[in-house]
Amino acid sequence: MCSLIFTGIALLCVLVPPQVTSVPFPSGVARTECRGRYFWIWMNKAALGQNTWSYSVLNELGQRIRVTEQIATQCGFTTTTDLYGNPEIRVSFLACSVRNLFDQDFSLQLQVEVTRPDSLTAVYDVSMDCPLGTPWSPREIVCEENYMEVSVRRAVPGIASEVLNEDWTAVWPVAQGAMNQVWQVVFRFQNGSLESMMATQAHALGYGVNTTATRVLFRTPYGTQQTEVVMVQGLEVEVARATVFYKQAWMILMVDTAVACPINPAVFTATTLSWVVPRIMPSLVGFPHLYKDEAIEMGLDGLLIDRATAMRNGYTFQTDGIDFISITVPIGAAGGLTESDVINNYYGTTYSIKLLLDRRWQGDESDRTRHRSLKPFRTPFAPQTLVLINNTIPERGYFDISLGNFLPDVELVAIGIGGKPLSPEELKGRGFRLEEVPNPNNTRVLILQVPFADPLVEQEYLYANIRKYTLRLNYTLNLVQKDKPFTHLAVIECDVPDVVLPTFEGFCDTGRIGLVMIRGNLDRYWVPYVGNVRLTNEFVVSQNYTIQDDGHYFYLFIPLLAVGLSYQDISLQGVTAQLDFNLRDNKTQVITVAFPVACIFPTGKLLVCFPNGTMTATVLSLDTKPNLDPRKTHLRDQNCGPVAADETRALFSFPVTTCGTTRRFEGDYMVYENEVFFRREMVPEANPVITRDSQYRLTLRCRYPLNETLRVWARRLLGERGTPAPYALGLGAYQQKRSIDHPVISQTVGNAPGGATQKSWLWFPAAAMALSLASAALAVHLPVRIPGCHKH
Ligand SMILES: *[C@@H]1O[C@H](CO)[C@@H](O)[C@H](O)[C@H]1NC(C)=O
Ligand SMILES: *[C@@H]1O[C@H](CO)[C@@H](O)[C@H](O)[C@H]1NC(C)=O
Ligand SMILES: *[C@@H]1O[C@H](CO)[C@@H](O)[C@H](O)[C@H]1NC(C)=O
Ligand SMILES: *[C@@H]1O[C@H](CO)[C@@H](O)[C@H](O)[C@H]1NC(C)=O
Ligand SMILES: *[C@@H]1O[C@H](CO)[C@@H](O)[C@H](O)[C@H]1NC(C)=O
Ligand SMILES: *[C@@H]1O[C@H](CO)[C@@H](O)[C@H](O)[C@H]1NC(C)=O
Ligand SMILES: *[C@@H]1O[C@H](CO)[C@@H](O)[C@H](O)[C@H]1NC(C)=O
Ligand SMILES: *[C@@H]1O[C@H](CO)[C@@H](O)[C@H](O)[C@H]1NC(C)=O
Ligand SMILES: *[C@@H]1O[C@H](CO)[C@@H](O)[C@H](O)[C@H]1NC(C)=O
Repeated sequence: MCSLIFTGIALLCVLVPPQVTSVPFPSGVARTECRGRYFWIWMNKAALGQNTWSYSVLNELGQRIRVTEQIATQCGFTTTTDLYGNPEIRVSFLACSVRNLFDQDFSLQLQVEVTRPDSLTAVYDVSMDCPLGTPWSPREIVCEENYMEVSVRRAVPGIASEVLNEDWTAVWPVAQGAMNQVWQVVFRFQNGSLESMMATQAHALGYGVNTTATRVLFRTPYGTQQTEVVMVQGLEVEVARATVFYKQAWMILMVDTAVACPINPAVFTATTLSWVVPRIMPSLVGFPHLYKDEAIEMGLDGLLIDRATAMRNGYTFQTDGIDFISITVPIGAAGGLTESDVINNYYGTTYSIKLLLDRRWQGDESDRTRHRSLKPFRTPFAPQTLVLINNTIPERGYFDISLGNFLPDVELVAIGIGGKPLSPEELKGRGFRLEEVPNPNNTRVLILQVPFADPLVEQEYLYANIRKYTLRLNYTLNLVQKDKPFTHLAVIECDVPDVVLPTFEGFCDTGRIGLVMIRGNLDRYWVPYVGNVRLTNEFVVSQNYTIQDDGHYFYLFIPLLAVGLSYQDISLQGVTAQLDFNLRDNKTQVITVAFPVACIFPTGKLLVCFPNGTMTATVLSLDTKPNLDPRKTHLRDQNCGPVAADETRALFSFPVTTCGTTRRFEGDYMVYENEVFFRREMVPEANPVITRDSQYRLTLRCRYPLNETLRVWARRLLGERGTPAPYALGLGAYQQKRSIDHPVISQTVGNAPGGATQKSWLWFPAAAMALSLASAALAVHLPVRIPGCHKH
């Protein structure tokens, strides 16, 4: 099986079983360095990818010891990451299994096991040799992230008697009982009590105790049963007061291996982080009045930096010479790393820095101590307000938006525009400008330009020639390393005076009302209506409207008798038909432009059923031979004569509840009916006509639908086909009631008699005749109505 552990790097074939062939890391994947008293090993996060890893140390016998968390604290290993998230291993020179050549040269053999998601494992060797570097101080204390370590120079015989003080004599008898053991450790507590244990027991409890050629070593994890947290100048310090007894030849020697590490957290302000530690740790310093600082230095990532660098980076590193040593770092300063983060979809940053405080002091004659603390800090999440800048200049015809300020670890995944997510490629493919522009301070802004004319930009007509363009943005961004996506929503609007409104002209043609609209640049988004009726194809066809639309000119012709027109001012002379043409916003249905056209045409023969239950009809004498006198006509109720009449015509107008009007149900309709009669005495007695029934009768009928849910519709209503001619009048009598298909036209909704909301109906005795009415007389152009601005 071939394993390809590191992305893009082909490796030798390795076998899976644990008895492994190991190889060195491919170049570029791992880096090592002797730094301070440590072996440092870094692995490239990108090369590791999704693989998991663990490591073992090879002891002098070549046995592999898997470094677990517990072994790490006991043995002097630290597994962490560097500022950039690359795995980092630090191994103390005094760690278990490090080959130690007389405390001067150290070598380490590690094996790193990298396991792919499919469980293939490869093993890589890391071998390092490090010289001591700075000579050992008599006592060296290290406050690591996961353990405290102290090593003390092994004194030649004599040390015991030399430093005997009260503490030591108190401890002495406790050690006596374990003479036959190689090791004994005695812990002293603040309350004065002692706890002694065999070395094996101390090991079992997780302590590391050993000797090297020249030194005695004690290592403890934080927070054990035998460590204590004490307050020094109000700051927390973790201490372990251990005395190690070891047997050398015929002597029992004891060494004070007390260790103390500051564990107080840093103090964060909005702009700084401060780390303050006590200058003197009482448990390490027997005679404070003799105490002298020899050197106080700071460093980053385990390396000392000089004062000039610290100053250049803006760090404040100071001691008051009495109680405290403090390091203050401006958040964002060089030496640390500002990273993006996302919490609850809020973008923000954290700043991390790994500080080192390295001090040397002189306690008393015999005490020369080097004390180092390695301390990683990370500021709490600081939400960053994303800055959206609207650089749009209406004249340029596009939105120009910048969104910042992002650290380099943020990538753009997509921008949703008007609800449609577009990847950066798609955005560019669509012709949008999309660019990342760097700021001087390592942040970047995203520039996006979107033309107003793009279909994803919403448009809304406001008023006059103003239209509002709305760009709805949904930025989806991702933190590259953490793979944490987040979104940012923005709505940018721009009112631009670029609307060309349509212009209209109306005209009255023979038998129809006409309208021509010269299109502007927005009306294609608007929906044409006649009155309250939308001009759908079905409606247009059913009502014999004519529409021609070449995209520039829009013509509309409506027959004078079609549904959609309204009729007013009916008199003997004429009637006004009005076309209420309007365009409406597709979404809101609000009227954007309205253009009424009215035509007056001769009354002719007409019946109008108004919504309020008024029937209006005209009677023409020309319809009869010889002509009757319209002034002598009346309704069923003889008292109801025409409201106006002359020799040629009469006009009736009456509420359906009067004048002998009858009503009946007919399916879903209420039908009102009346008749126009001509008074018989007007017919000459001596007329030689044979017929018996020689009375003039004209039936007027209005149908109102009962079902208000019925909407606009039209249909042909069959007349009384097949019924005998009701009368004949005079010679060559003209049959008044012919079997004719009447156009029945739905009008506006109104209140029908009886109070229910119903529709009125209008029909004409004959389509042919109706047309003859319609010789255009006068076109009335009413002003175009422009609704006021409506914002939301
Ligand atoms: C002293 O303190 C230690 C650690 O806190 C505790 O284990 C021990 O019992 C205490 N001894 C006395 C006598 O209180
Ligand atoms: C102490 O150090 C020696 C020499 O490095 C080593 O062989 C031994 O295993 C160590 N003992 C413990 C308990 O770590
Ligand atoms: C980075 O620079 C930009 C523009 O110069 C500024 O708006 C922003 O506040 C700066 N960010 C930080 C963290 O200093
Ligand atoms: C923004 O886009 C993301 C990813 O496409 C989607 O999950 C989210 O619902 C969108 N938010 C809104 C308000 O449209
Ligand atoms: C964007 O800028 C344009 C042009 O300056 C302005 O008219 C518009 O109101 C701005 N829109 C927003 C949401 O700030
Ligand atoms: C009106 O909107 C509907 C759906 O919102 C759409 O299908 C139709 O094409 C639009 N009509 C016009 C004329 O824009
Ligand atoms: C439409 O025109 C046709 C043919 O001219 C005619 O037969 C029909 O009755 C008309 N329909 C209406 C509703 O006017
Ligand atoms: C009914 O409406 C017509 C047309 O609008 C009007 O002329 C007439 O006066 C109205 N009749 C009543 C009784 O309101
Ligand atoms: C109105 O029309 C609906 C749908 O056609 C029908 O279900 C209902 O029965 C009608 N109501 C009346 C009162 O005619």
